[in-house]
Amino acid sequence: MGWREHYKERKVNAAEAVGRIGGGSHVVLAHCAGEPAALTRAMVENADRYDNVVIHHMVRLGPIDYATPGLEKKCRVEPWFSGINARAAISEGRGDFAPVFFHEVPILIRAGRLGCDVALISVSPPDENGFVSTGVSVDYTHQAVRTAQYVVAQVNPRMPRTLGESFLHVTEIDAFVEAEDELFEVTPPKITDVERAIGEHCASLVENGSTLQLGIGAIPDAVMLFLKDKKDIGIHSEMIADGTLELYNSGVINNALKSENKGKMTVTFLMGTRALYDFAHDNPAIEVRPVDYVNHPITISRQYKMVCINSAMQVDLMGQVNAEAIGFNQFSGVGGQVDFVRGASMAEGGKSIIAMPSVTVKKDGTAISKIVSSLDEGAPVTTSRCDVDYVVTEFGIAAMKGKSLRQRAKNLIQIAYPDARDSLKEEFERRFKEKL
Ligand code: COA
Repeated sequence: MGWREHYKERKVNAAEAVGRIGGGSHVVLAHCAGEPAALTRAMVENADRYDNVVIHHMVRLGPIDYATPGLEKKCRVEPWFSGINARAAISEGRGDFAPVFFHEVPILIRAGRLGCDVALISVSPPDENGFVSTGVSVDYTHQAVRTAQYVVAQVNPRMPRTLGESFLHVTEIDAFVEAEDELFEVTPPKITDVERAIGEHCASLVENGSTLQLGIGAIPDAVMLFLKDKKDIGIHSEMIADGTLELYNSGVINNALKSENKGKMTVTFLMGTRALYDFAHDNPAIEVRPVDYVNHPITISRQYKMVCINSAMQVDLMGQVNAEAIGFNQFSGVGGQVDFVRGASMAEGGKSIIAMPSVTVKKDGTAISKIVSSLDEGAPVTTSRCDVDYVVTEFGIAAMKGKSLRQRAKNLIQIAYPDARDSLKEEFERRFKEKL
């Protein structure tokens, strides 16, 4: 049977496709803007048919109505990265959280250690050879397809066809649901003076010829504002957002000196606006590859002058980083932070930066210093004190690698929120028997 017949015979509507998901199945959903929204909508509408279905994913941008109270016996959510939508389900006991390095997700799916009976993905329409592209999300999607016993694809004409290893053949897919949906978008945030100052400090650590990993948000965008005079910057990053486009179009990012994947921006997913998704369509400048390649610390370590920039919730006076929880409440996940911190530190001339504002101000006006004497009770260590390299706030740069505990604490207090410095100094004096 040719691929066209295979495709035609397996075209179904969304309700029929998700109605075949059996009780107790582990369902893996594609990540981020790769979310098959028509399929997740149909799952919620058909939730009555389910019994103990467990849903897994990394970042989720759409609503997760399948985790609303009352449905917990039907579907239970167990993400590998908690986001705005999964937090309540996890903290209220209707879901659970599995800590996992992003690069290990496909490895653990392959090994059968992360459940994956069903894969729900989103793809571009097939090309003349019967290949579809998973576009904005390659990460763990392909491994999920290769492991699951039942694979459903939402065929969405809005999905860009990206190059690299984004292609699946239609014969690898069991059911096709044609449904046009706009992809989820994340718009660039406003950059405040605090973020500009952080961006300027981070950019001062980036030498010409560096290869960068940047996440999404105001801090990475602020870093890019201060890279405009740099030369020969490369991108090897878990993801890119719209901020990268300006530097690429101006020639600052040319990927010319990358040690591997020269001339290309290497990523595992894309998260931004339609402008980014259109840019990525059929564009050889972007190479999208699975996360067990892109985020593997050994892959990252092969990039000369690799610099990674990530953020955190808290850093304690030893340099331990909590990037994912507020006390016992899981706010996000490790994502690719440790993958890149470790890869960059193994790279020749590599650096890793944890960049964050010195303080967070709650809605009731309470100011909470993000540099603390000890991490909050319940908070995990995301990046360990031996892994951490530079910590940056709006007040400057604190070097950690090679520094004693005493020197680390001194460096961190200098860049802490000014109102918190006295109490941090008291703790310093108690710990190190030295007056600051
Ligand atoms: N104590 C209490 N609350 C804190 C806090 C602290 N020390 N630090 C931050 N918060 C709160 C903020 O007040 C804010 O609350 P709100 O939602 O009620 O406004 C919330 O946490 C988010 O803070 P914000 O500063 O806006 O965080 P962010 O969106 O910049 O995200 C991380 C920061 C650390 C959560 C995020 O970078 C992350 O998830 N990192 C881990 C994964 C990673 O690094 N991946 C890298 C590859 S992309």
